Amino acid sequence: MAINIKRPNGTEDVLPKDVHKWLTVEKIVRETAENFGFGEIRIPTFENTDLFMRSVGETTDVVQKEMYTVMAKETKFTLRPEGTAGTIRAMLQNGLLNEALPQRVFYILSCFRHERPQAGRLREFHQFGLEMAGSASPCADAEVISLAKTILDRLELKNIELYINSIGCPECRAKYHEALRAYFSDRKEELCETCLSRLEKNPMRILDCKSPICGDIAKDAPLILDYLCEECSDHFEKLKGYLDTLGIEYKINPKIVRGLDYYTKTVFEFVTTEIGAQGTVCGGGRYDGLIEQLGGQKVPALGFAMGIERLLLTMEKQGCPYLTPKTCDIYFATMGEEALIKAMALAKELREYGYRAEYDVVGRGLKAQMKYANKIGASFTIVLGDNELAEGVAKLKEMESGKETAVKLDEKFCVNFDSLYIDKVMDSIEEAGGELDLGAQFGLDGHVHDEHCNCGCCKEDTDNG
Ligand code: HAM
Repeated sequence: MAINIKRPNGTEDVLPKDVHKWLTVEKIVRETAENFGFGEIRIPTFENTDLFMRSVGETTDVVQKEMYTVMAKETKFTLRPEGTAGTIRAMLQNGLLNEALPQRVFYILSCFRHERPQAGRLREFHQFGLEMAGSASPCADAEVISLAKTILDRLELKNIELYINSIGCPECRAKYHEALRAYFSDRKEELCETCLSRLEKNPMRILDCKSPICGDIAKDAPLILDYLCEECSDHFEKLKGYLDTLGIEYKINPKIVRGLDYYTKTVFEFVTTEIGAQGTVCGGGRYDGLIEQLGGQKVPALGFAMGIERLLLTMEKQGCPYLTPKTCDIYFATMGEEALIKAMALAKELREYGYRAEYDVVGRGLKAQMKYANKIGASFTIVLGDNELAEGVAKLKEMESGKETAVKLDEKFCVNFDSLYIDKVMDSIEEAGGELDLGAQFGLDGHVHDEHCNCGCCKEDTDNG
């Protein structure tokens, strides 16, 4: 019987033809985070379930409905539904908070939430996120918001609005909770079962319930901004001032409460209306109590995460540029065993130079090999047969123009190929009106030499002074 196993609902495959889109986002987020002084951290895919209960919060949708949890022997483990909890756990466990503060880390990781899949909402999705620990100043809030904005700009995304709010500290939150309890108690019978249980424990969670009935009731609920204490209010005012100074446009949305329990003071979201209902491409805020809650020192912290799939959906919609996918630089079409062995040697050397070189590994005839070279979009092809080997010269064909150049099959082959390749890149730059394409700039398309290049030929240049 044929096996017909499909990928689980709410998961995606990224095929080689699309991977350059991911590389574009990953490259830009990494570079930008590094520009702002953040270092990459990698954490486990699963953690002790307690970590998420204590940080994300027991009354959140994420913990109550969406976690993938397994019991292994005596311990409960959960696939991370987000990156903050694990990152803070790792910072504490590895003593990072005893080093120079603020500590700044970023991550690119997969997250798992058992939600109803739809466009922009997956059960396995990917986040780029970052956390900064050790600053209570609103200037740090402006700094991370500015970092997020820089990424969106560098990805060339447009029409993304920044919404900010403050959800106060435990002091103002207590008064706000009272006001919410009073408000929701009047319509208690209409609330869903989960929200009914939230009413006592954590009424603010009712504000982001996904049930349309609860959402409707929540529309006229009291707003947190009316309950802020002086310190929280002052923090929010200063943040607005810094954003103005940085020229970052924002709108105040007093309804943003975020779906995770650890937030205090500033919360923010970048939202687009162009990808449907799941338009929040980035969400974050301050969480001054979390580190202490997880057993650490009293260290204020903040951060955000962007959904990579949502960024990509928006980029696709808006026709944003990607790095050019890397295709085959040179394909050796071979006739006979001796030619194949020569192709193997030359390809090996070219690969050391950083080129993508391929030859026939199937045993096809010449015509079929050339058809294959065409299909994979080889930039150059070269045919090696008995004649070429005997004469020590072969014709290198530039596939786009059809131009052929005779090249010697000697120890200078790679150097000669290199200069022909550069000529081709220069020609295409000239054709494009002098503009270097994004792919070439980032070194994904072809071979761009600069002082950071670590390929065989550049190393050779450096070694030779
Ligand atoms: P979050 O708002 O739950 O925050 O998620 C951050 C981003 O991840 C969202 O804005 C969205 O782009 C993406 N996202 C969330 N759920 C899904 C899903 N099911 N499918 C696709 N994308 C999704 C956090 O996770 C916090 N840890 C962010 C943070 C870091 N706050 C402080 N530091």
